Amino acid sequence: MSETSTTDMRARRERLLGPAYRLFYEEPFHPVRGDGVWLYDAEGTPWLDAYNNVACLGHCHPQVVEAMARQAATLNTHTRYLHEGILAYAERLLATLPAALGHATFTCTGSEANDLALRIAAAHTGGSGVIVTRFAYHGVTSALACASPSLGEYVRVGEHVRLVDPPSGGDEQTGHRFAEGVRAAIADLQASGLQPAALLVDTVFSSDGVFTAPAGFLQEAVAAIHAAGGVFIADEVQPGFGRTGEAFWGFMRHGLVPDIVTMGKPMGNGHPVAGLAVRPEVMRAFGKASRYFNTFGGNPVSMAAASAVLDVLEQEGLQRNAYQVGHYLRERLAALGQRHPQIGEVRGAGLFIGLELVTDPVTRTPATALAAQVVNGLRQRQVLLSATGPQAHVLKIRPPLVLQPEHADFLVERLDGVLTAIEEGRSP
Ligand SMILES: Cc1ncc(COP(=O)(O)O)c(C=O)c1O
Repeated sequence: MSETSTTDMRARRERLLGPAYRLFYEEPFHPVRGDGVWLYDAEGTPWLDAYNNVACLGHCHPQVVEAMARQAATLNTHTRYLHEGILAYAERLLATLPAALGHATFTCTGSEANDLALRIAAAHTGGSGVIVTRFAYHGVTSALACASPSLGEYVRVGEHVRLVDPPSGGDEQTGHRFAEGVRAAIADLQASGLQPAALLVDTVFSSDGVFTAPAGFLQEAVAAIHAAGGVFIADEVQPGFGRTGEAFWGFMRHGLVPDIVTMGKPMGNGHPVAGLAVRPEVMRAFGKASRYFNTFGGNPVSMAAASAVLDVLEQEGLQRNAYQVGHYLRERLAALGQRHPQIGEVRGAGLFIGLELVTDPVTRTPATALAAQVVNGLRQRQVLLSATGPQAHVLKIRPPLVLQPEHADFLVERLDGVLTAIEEGRSP
């Protein structure tokens, strides 16, 4: 893409889309085609997509494209007519979850799923208090924006929302410390005359900086919200559908059964389909008080796409691949840390990886500016990823689940090159 047309597109975006849209990278990226783990620009240059947990099967997977095209050419309606697609998919989806989660509800986005989860929680508990982590992101609706402190200056955290520190540390006391925070938040809500309705967490804490260890650390906090009469909502929009390798759902690594599970992003491999699984007894009060209709949620084309995603995950053994290649990539990143002291912790599970960058390996001071340099340097070297966490110093590595060891090598070699260039005072 020539510089003029990039500049022209940026100006048109600003004029047409307004000021709220943001672009990634100092030099914006303009892909025109995707295939597997690669995105291609107009000249045919490939970029390794190490950031995309939507295209979990790889970009433009032919089986999903074909399933959608076939259904779109046959019938696309809504959930107020009978259709086999939604029932067959609900059966398959619920079979991946603990039996206690007996109902499935479909939406188009993760935000809608979380928004509905909060309404269901409020109806069931009679409460309104919501507990989330200090740098959480849960979606775009008003109810979620005010429970998404990572939106920072753009939004005010709601008066019924309490923030807790994410479960950092990775030691045996991680779960206890996190639960102490949740208990304090519950007490604070109660002191304000508010009844807790829900503890809502992303089970890999991606916007907080990726915290996954030790598996099981969520249990005490979930017991605490239950003891206070609230429900536990597992936001699986990021980790769901096999990404953590060890389990199909992120919460399963913690050996617990949520009251509500919300999901989205990878569910349609790029097609906008999302949803919830709910315990029937938790759904009852909402179902009695409200009807649920979502014009596009659960439509036959969405269900065909989602069903094809489950087929491919199974046929290509992608949860196992996430486990194996994720382990390989984390080992290689940790080995790279032996040569680059700016690499701090390598966190994550399966193909959801957080790579901490620090200015000093002992104090582990967040290297925010370095992370931005690395992200932009990698973009110049054909690797796409981003940074996360309150100090934006944790590289978020979240490639399609079809990533192979040679792709992991490509990423590590490019990262090595960027860090070496920065160390030598060259342009990354
Ligand atoms: C943890 C989490 N929950 C919910 C959402 C919202 O999903 P959507 O963008 O599909 O509305 C996101 C989106 O990034 C997310 O990361």
